[in-house]
Amino acid sequence: MKSIVILISGRGSNMESLLTAVASGALPVRIAGVLSNRPAAQGLETAARQGVPTCVVDHQQFASREAFDAAMAEAIDRFSPDLVVLAGFMRILTDGFVRRYTGRLVNIHPSLLPSFPGLHTHRQALEEGVRIHGCTVHFVTPALDHGPVIVQAAVPVLDDDDEASLAARVLAQEHRVYPLAVRWFAEDRLRLVDGRVLLDAAQDATGVLIAPQAS
Ligand code: GRF
Repeated sequence: MKSIVILISGRGSNMESLLTAVASGALPVRIAGVLSNRPAAQGLETAARQGVPTCVVDHQQFASREAFDAAMAEAIDRFSPDLVVLAGFMRILTDGFVRRYTGRLVNIHPSLLPSFPGLHTHRQALEEGVRIHGCTVHFVTPALDHGPVIVQAAVPVLDDDDEASLAARVLAQEHRVYPLAVRWFAEDRLRLVDGRVLLDAAQDATGVLIAPQAS
């Protein structure tokens, strides 16, 4: 069975969706550890409560991004994971770090990339007046919030939405697509061809675009 480590910085609800999927048998991976760059990250307690080893590499203790990333990589490699899963990990990673994990580093971003990279994605979506918003799971490349897309989920933007209501609608889909994407990786069903992800979907009715009903 493949093993993963999950990197978080805060609340850790995406991490929790992965833990829940593993506990229910829906996600056939071993969660080797949860790492955080913030000692106070709420998700660390959630992981510890569920018996998952945790580790903090506090970025404030390092003089440079390079030094922090080297320490983080060392902490990750102690778990020898097959896949590194960024789940609300709020640090920009150096090219060296990203290259070290090429093809085995994934991220979830709360927009339909390439729209709205960076922060405040829900505010950006409301300001642009888009009618469809969503989330993306992608392999990580050195460019921020960029890289081969594994799966996207779309949600409607409603007239009376504010940032909080839109974020909640997107987050519900994040919790659905991240376990799915990690499962595909675990089952060796993702292939990178010319910088794009191909999913061997033969045995799965779920496609790579999730488009739920308006709610
Ligand atoms: C999520 O919206 C994720 O897409 C983004 O940061 C948020 C983290 O939430 N990268 P959580 O820590 O998983 O609850």
